[in-house]
Amino acid sequence: MQTNPPHKLHVAIIMDGNGRWAEARGLPRPIGHQAGADAVRAIVRSAIENDVGALTLYAFSTYNWRRSDAEVAGLMALLRHFLLVEARQLRDTNVRISILGRRDRLPLGLVKAIATAERTTAACSGLHLRIAIDYSAREAILAAAAAGLTPEALAAQLGTEDVDLLIRTGGDRRLSDFLLWECAYAELLFTEVKWPDFGPPQFEAALADYARRTRSFGGVADAA
Ligand code: FPP
Repeated sequence: MQTNPPHKLHVAIIMDGNGRWAEARGLPRPIGHQAGADAVRAIVRSAIENDVGALTLYAFSTYNWRRSDAEVAGLMALLRHFLLVEARQLRDTNVRISILGRRDRLPLGLVKAIATAERTTAACSGLHLRIAIDYSAREAILAAAAAGLTPEALAAQLGTEDVDLLIRTGGDRRLSDFLLWECAYAELLFTEVKWPDFGPPQFEAALADYARRTRSFGGVADAA
């Protein structure tokens, strides 16, 4: 059986189901997002422990602006708080933070928190934690194409390696305009588990599922 090459994985996650998690408990949706932020902390720790190379999280899409003003404001405040509170601790665990997506529509306080978190962790060489905020893959691809149409220029603009494993929680089975270029050959894993319930055991099970898969990248898997 062919085994996967021993390079560090790039795992991407569409963290879906916060709202339904809260509603199922008779709680307001923002409580679901708070529980989702706690899940992020636990999964970042698990990614470090499991020697994951890069973790890209979809925190806010360009389409999420359609939600109520109160929910959008709550999410922006939660993201700002996360970056302000976590930046030093992430630096101490050698995690480098990068934010993907547009910044021109974000509240100033969040833009400043992003700059601080990126600056604080810039020299870290462990896990690369990438958080997508006001992100659209189509917009990113168009911006990259405008800067140069070679694959190298696109890769440089998009700023990342291919995704190895894409996880979507919350039961839906779609990509929702997330990392469309980088996921060209990604393994996809969809789970019914809602994001606040997705903890290190579920993350490790997803990594184990990935490790059992055979990736042929369009070639023939058992050619040896
Ligand atoms: C999808 O659930 C989730 C979001 C739109 C927001 C994701 C944000 C977090 C997990 C919290 C903060 C993130 C970080 C990086 C600290 P949904 O609201 O669409 O759930 P639903 O489909 O059940 O309504």
